[in-house]
Amino acid sequence: MLVDSHAHLDFPEFDPDREAVIARARAVGMVAILNVGADLESSRASVALAEQYDFIYAAVGVHPHDARTLTPSGLEELRALARHPKVVAVGEIGLDYYRDLSPRPVQRQAFADQLALAAELGLPVVIHSRDALDDTLAILRGWTGNGVLHSYSGGPERLEEVLAMGFSVGISGPVTFPNAHRLRTVAATVPLDRLLIETDCPYLTPEPYRGRRNEPAYVWYVAGAVARARGMPAEEVARVAAENAARLFRLPIRTTDERR
Ligand code: NI
Repeated sequence: MLVDSHAHLDFPEFDPDREAVIARARAVGMVAILNVGADLESSRASVALAEQYDFIYAAVGVHPHDARTLTPSGLEELRALARHPKVVAVGEIGLDYYRDLSPRPVQRQAFADQLALAAELGLPVVIHSRDALDDTLAILRGWTGNGVLHSYSGGPERLEEVLAMGFSVGISGPVTFPNAHRLRTVAATVPLDRLLIETDCPYLTPEPYRGRRNEPAYVWYVAGAVARARGMPAEEVARVAAENAARLFRLPIRTTDERR
């Protein structure tokens, strides 16, 4: 059993062969894919994909890169989209001080506005934070919901803080890279019930396909690297991470977890 908790199958990289990519995901045991919006257009496209495929779910939100595009009417459209039964989260939202494609005060405002929307709708959030963990956690401290720090890059030293706030940690393809020692330490130490695995496809392609386009089926390589770091079977990592995703995003998939 396998869940890809962060994919962008609506992106143009998949236009030539989207059907085949989705079929390969099913073929390797994928029971759910969370397709995550990055702006209004991809949020709409995520909902459309979720309508088309039973095992695809959607998150809607505006990425910090595009924070400058989030207008009051855009926020209204997100609110309307988020009421769709297959929308299970608000995301991806957050702060990116690495590329700074929107001014930082604008990023912080868009993040806060979308956190408020998630709280209003009772949805968890998918958070993108790059070179901005201090401000990300400062903003989250004033917020009461739940969610995941996707493609977590804060290092082992910030993990305790993130966990104390109740958030889950998303591990993606870079955990397979030979020099990713710090990320493997994170993968080995995050409590099993807070671990999610993801591709962030078409980006962050794991070894042995690094440098090529990523796709949901490759989340197995992420599970494999996490499993080696923890000294446990990859199937077990995949199963537990799937159960965690199902619990966090309230996915109506059958898992062996009786507590749900
Ligand atoms: Ni993403």
